[in-house]
Amino acid sequence: MKVPVVAAGGFKDGRGLVAALAYGAAGIAMGTRFLMTSDSPVPRATLERYITSDLTKIIVSTKVDGARMRMILNETLGRLENTGVIGRYWTALKSGLAFRKHAGIGYVEMIRSALANARANKLTLAETLMAANSPMLIQRSMVEGHPSEGVLPSGQVAGLIRDLSSAAEVIEKIVAEAEARLEALNTGRRDGAAAAE
Ligand SMILES: Cc1cc2nc3c(=O)[nH]c(=O)nc-3n(C[C@H](O)[C@H](O)[C@H](O)COP(=O)(O)O)c2cc1C
Repeated sequence: MKVPVVAAGGFKDGRGLVAALAYGAAGIAMGTRFLMTSDSPVPRATLERYITSDLTKIIVSTKVDGARMRMILNETLGRLENTGVIGRYWTALKSGLAFRKHAGIGYVEMIRSALANARANKLTLAETLMAANSPMLIQRSMVEGHPSEGVLPSGQVAGLIRDLSSAAEVIEKIVAEAEARLEALNTGRRDGAAAAE
């Protein structure tokens, strides 16, 4: 059986596409590159934080809900990283209450659903208390457009992307870059590949 393999993680340009094809992949998948386009439903204020992000300040943290998550280091993540247990539980409590309001459920139902989630996913007490952080903090930044008040999930490559082209333009540019790079490799014109970037 032939299984097509798609390369993913950190791709943003034609050079990456050619490298993936050279490794035998059928193509590439891109998350962050498409998130950072003018077609993205993410509010503009939040996208501004992505295109101005610093490559060295996109970190993996477990402080949001206990699971590893890669994010742009912003005000909220900085606070979660540097605060003690009480500060973290305070954020968790606020997220829990916001989640209850958002879901339109009562307190008893909220506790019941938290316990069911803990049982189903074998969560520790800390993870159970922090479970509402992720959806509520993502909602705040990625849906409501308050980038400093929520978290900014991201691939490391965000720190190298400085434009908000449309998704179609991104694809056209990647294909053109890949073709130019392949052409240059075929003809041995390394300078041609450099000029095409
Ligand atoms: C919307 C979004 C959500 C993400 N959520 C997580 C996550 O929950 N945990 C995690 O470790 N990484 C998360 N990441 C980062 C990915 O692990 C990964 O670094 C990245 O998406 C790689 O592919 P890309 O460069 O094409 O985006 C997320 C990235 C994006 C764009």
